[in-house]
Amino acid sequence: MTVERADISDAEELGRVAAETFPLACPPGSGAEDIAAFIAENLSAERFREYIGDSTRTVLKAVGEGRILGYVLLNSGAPADPKVASVIVPRPVTELSKMYVLPGQHGNGVSGALMSSALDAARSAGSVAVWLGVNQENARAQRFYGKHGFEVAGTKTFMVGSELHQDYVMLHEFSGAGR
Ligand SMILES: CC(C)(COP(=O)(O)OP(=O)(O)OC[C@H]1O[C@@H](n2cnc3c(N)ncnc32)[C@H](O)[C@@H]1OP(=O)(O)O)[C@@H](O)C(=O)NCCC(=O)NCCS
Repeated sequence: MTVERADISDAEELGRVAAETFPLACPPGSGAEDIAAFIAENLSAERFREYIGDSTRTVLKAVGEGRILGYVLLNSGAPADPKVASVIVPRPVTELSKMYVLPGQHGNGVSGALMSSALDAARSAGSVAVWLGVNQENARAQRFYGKHGFEVAGTKTFMVGSELHQDYVMLHEFSGAGR
């Protein structure tokens, strides 16, 4: 298994992986129509082509068995949400915007390799910290992020279709940052 930067030719497959994995991050009881609306709006192949071509974003893919097993999307720049900006103070900072691994690949190191590459990419880009939002009911992801040095810094909300979801905001500060 390797982790590499995605390119435009990966957009279709990334869209399929995203559509399969996004529902796993939503709390039980989330509306199927709201999830489908979010996927159509944010996780289509067309959107991935935009993400990959955007110099403020980085898309990393984990590849094994000849296919994409998971992906990460990083955003550079200060948080746009004022509630996030009030608790995420370090600058420059990177957002870990998406972190998704196919269900058959959980617990086998794919996600850890993606996370290591994501943190390396953020640090190489000059960031002193990485932040993310995670659904308050997504205990597995919270535990995973905790293992990788993220701590809860605050809360925010996140729209999935017409549903308002409650997130934790988590922060990983690089040691020695700012010195
Ligand atoms: C989040 C994700 C990337 C983590 O990858 P992973 O391979 O599952 O992570 P790991 O197995 O290394 O770590 C998960 C930890 O949560 C634990 N865990 C599993 N289910 C849990 C639960 N219901 N409650 C609490 N902890 C749980 C696991 O035991 C493991 O901890 P351990 O290593 O101490 O035993 C992956 O699960 C995923 O893609 N999930 C679906 C999409 C998603 O939720 N993405 C995050 C959006 S913010």
